[in-house]
Amino acid sequence: MKIRHLLTLNDFSRKEIDDILRQAAVMKKSPAGFRRALYGRTLAMLFAKPSTRTRVSFEIAMFQLGGHAVNLNFSEMQVSRGETIADTGRVLGRYADAIMARLHRHKHLEELAKSAGVPVINGLTDLCHPCQVLGDMLTIKENLGTLKGRKLVFLGDGSSNVCHSLINASSMLELDMFVSCPRRYQPKIKGSFKLVSNPKEAAKSADILYTDVWVSMGQERGKAMRIRALKQYQLNSSVLGQAKKRCIVMHCLPAHRNQEITSDIMDSNNSVIFQQAENRLHVQKAVLVKLLKN
Ligand code: CP
Repeated sequence: MKIRHLLTLNDFSRKEIDDILRQAAVMKKSPAGFRRALYGRTLAMLFAKPSTRTRVSFEIAMFQLGGHAVNLNFSEMQVSRGETIADTGRVLGRYADAIMARLHRHKHLEELAKSAGVPVINGLTDLCHPCQVLGDMLTIKENLGTLKGRKLVFLGDGSSNVCHSLINASSMLELDMFVSCPRRYQPKIKGSFKLVSNPKEAAKSADILYTDVWVSMGQERGKAMRIRALKQYQLNSSVLGQAKKRCIVMHCLPAHRNQEITSDIMDSNNSVIFQQAENRLHVQKAVLVKLLKN
């Protein structure tokens, strides 16, 4: 049987994503019914970058499904001394039933998936962050009821992994996606989205306003330049004032309060940011069960 991976959202069909979101909602409502869903199964979690949400939500997901997760940090592994990612994958795939990896380069995740012989899940690469955006889609459904036709506006670095996965999801699930960003930070992938450089113009009648940090892990060298270029794309009360009254505010976290988003908006009644973080746990359970059920 063909091994399935989740490297980008495009690895799944629209029906499969709908099924994952439905299954995640069931698992969130009745977690007790799934306590042995992955009994005895194992997940190796490989981190080349720091993480709070991805690491903890995957580890707890495996425990709550009856399985076990092993946390592996690059700095403590032979890969940090020159062992290739492909050889690492060949070994881990002989111990674990699946691998979740957070790597710098998407190309390395593809190499891992080719070599591992078990399902590989993207826990974030420079290209995309599919698990984050599956949780985001569940959060939008919970708050707005439907996804199709909703106006989703991403403000900030349009070339970021989260924005790329939002474009993938919007194209597939028929959200109306807008990206408001400087020219040099436009998305680097194809998909169905509109560019509107003025953030207030973009935010008009939005159902969802979404932002992410301006300086991601590994981008520290260009920090001052990035902050200067992205300054006018801050998610604040004047931007939110352009959106629908019941517009939801989203951020994948971690946030830099009063940089890409003001603290008052982050803690406002429009914010669903911490619900987003929680939903990582529930969607990842659905993904794990789907990929490991055989
Ligand atoms: N959003 C997200 O992936 O959080 P972590 O970096 O803490 O895993």
